[in-house]
Amino acid sequence: MSKLPLERILQSQGFGTRKACRQLIDGGEVAIAGETVSGHRAVFETSGLEFTVFDEAWVYREHVYIALHKPANFECSRKPSHHPGVLSLLPEQFTWRDVQPVGRLDHDTTGLLLMSDDGAFIHAQSSPKRHIPKVYVATTHEPVTPALVDLLLAGVQLHDEPAPLAALTCRQIATHQLEIVLEQGKYHQVKRMLAAAGNHCSALQRSAIGALTLEALALDAGTWCYLDEAQLALLMPDPERVRPPAT
Ligand code: URA
Repeated sequence: MSKLPLERILQSQGFGTRKACRQLIDGGEVAIAGETVSGHRAVFETSGLEFTVFDEAWVYREHVYIALHKPANFECSRKPSHHPGVLSLLPEQFTWRDVQPVGRLDHDTTGLLLMSDDGAFIHAQSSPKRHIPKVYVATTHEPVTPALVDLLLAGVQLHDEPAPLAALTCRQIATHQLEIVLEQGKYHQVKRMLAAAGNHCSALQRSAIGALTLEALALDAGTWCYLDEAQLALLMPDPERVRPPAT
């Protein structure tokens, strides 16, 4: 529980500088429980606080945890160069809050992308030690064969990697499509593994992270949602799979 002046609350929620937030309040653009708030120093309990800015409803959140269905031709980089950045798909308040993607998808990869302004969450989710499986559906140039699946399961040697990388699971789902589950997050990993195995990736979608699936979220491409506690719990590593540290 914490009480804060409204101008600071708005600033924490991404409504701009303290001065800009003060101007919003003094301009009569902020209401709580249907009443316009006068006085930017008015103090409110933040927990569960609901308010409107320009008649749009918001709920106070200490941090935001977001799932985005990333469309193709958006970059995850903070300074996108050739395509718009994924942050342009979210309300601008999230940019002010310093929301960032958790890891990266290539500009042409679609699917589930987590985003947050909670540094500890981003760090934990990105840590290779957590062994959180990521599920990808890859469309291939050449037909998928049992030999290709076996090779991806056995491991393929990528340039610049000290040891072969293997899929956790891999299965054919169509003549030119396979589902591959990885627990590492190396640069262009699926595309490079397919190339090293003698095929070529022509389209790639991330369909799940841990037990959180794009299908269950029912997000259209380009849309996003907040993740609740139960959905965040699906991102925890499966204790069965976490390996003890190497001795
Ligand atoms: N593997 C890739 O090759 N690209 C991605 O975007 C994600 C995983």
